[in-house]
Amino acid sequence: MIYSSSYSFYSCGKMAVKELTEDIFEVGAAHYDRELFDELIPLPDGTSYNAYLIMGEEGNALIDTVDPSKTERLMKNLEKAEVDKIDYLISLHAEQDHSGSIPHVIEKYPEATIVTDSKCKDMLVDHLHLDENVFRVIDDGDELSLGDKTLKFMYMPWVHWPETLVAYLEEKNILFSCDFFGSHLATSNLFVEDERKAYLAAKRYYAEIMMPFRSSIQNHLERLDGMDIDHIATSHGPIYDDPDFILDAYQEWVDDQTKSEVVVPYVSMHGSTNEMIEHFVDYLGQKDIKVKPFNLTTTDLGELAMSLVDASTMVLGTPTVLVGAHPKAIYAAHLFNALRPKTRYASIIGSYGWGGRMPDQIKDILSNFNGELLDPVISKGHPDKEDIEDLERLANEIIQRHEEDDLVK
Ligand code: FEO
Repeated sequence: MIYSSSYSFYSCGKMAVKELTEDIFEVGAAHYDRELFDELIPLPDGTSYNAYLIMGEEGNALIDTVDPSKTERLMKNLEKAEVDKIDYLISLHAEQDHSGSIPHVIEKYPEATIVTDSKCKDMLVDHLHLDENVFRVIDDGDELSLGDKTLKFMYMPWVHWPETLVAYLEEKNILFSCDFFGSHLATSNLFVEDERKAYLAAKRYYAEIMMPFRSSIQNHLERLDGMDIDHIATSHGPIYDDPDFILDAYQEWVDDQTKSEVVVPYVSMHGSTNEMIEHFVDYLGQKDIKVKPFNLTTTDLGELAMSLVDASTMVLGTPTVLVGAHPKAIYAAHLFNALRPKTRYASIIGSYGWGGRMPDQIKDILSNFNGELLDPVISKGHPDKEDIEDLERLANEIIQRHEEDDLVK
């Protein structure tokens, strides 16, 4: 064994397998140079696909696999761990970044039974065309004994697919949570070392993947409350050896409380909308309101999503093009609608040359928004004195709403 300060490498050759604790290994793969997830989500820190090998006295289990692009790495890690057989391949989530290598594992370890819930089984059969006879379907609360170790399964649907579940290793107090609590953060560290970096990566992940399912997560956190958890081993990013760090963060993110912050995604073509946004942002700033503008032509959408985790108000800025909103503003509005942040107030700032139905188009897109839509400020051509007064009226209305709601600064 070669020991580092925070974990050990089980070193049997050139490639090392990370040992979480005795008989439990992380055998997945980091993907340092992946730039996009789902061809949509920026990955400034890459990602990882964690898979966990648990060696028991009466059986070995592998929890999840890796993205198909990293199958070779997983198979080599299993070789290095010198596992001669895998009795159970536990699938906590059917998405291919964790299930994509299952066919290869089954081929190499044909004695393995795939253990999962019924929904996940159906999805795995659909996506991977697996033989239905290789499955053992478990229910919420079921246990799987490996002799000296016991895994208990808990349904935790909608983090972020309907079939998701977690597994709790009772003798070691380890929660294997798959995507839940995850972060797109590729690192050579098995455990969280840089808390600030881990926090931001986890918040970004929550914003992009988990935020639409906030109410489900509130229920899941209640269920986890009171359990003895020493480690949360996710399928993306470093393992939490201080679970309260991430549990407390999630509690804050899913809480109904919002902060006195205004998020302003905007795009401008010839400067009119830009001038309006600048005035609006400056005015709010002078009134000591935290305001975050995002130029949609250059912004990292992950940063925009993160800002929506806490904000009370979103104001979208757009010119009119082809009688509607600018396509980048339509994209941002669609994203806002899909992510379902807990935002309380929304409005539109924009401009037009000769006509169009831009404000109505944006309102139609925001069909999931349950908050209050404040009157938009739309300028014909370059903003004049009256438009500037309307912007200040909108800003004052937002300030008043935030004060009435007694929001967190
Ligand atoms: Fe990491 Fe939902 O897959």
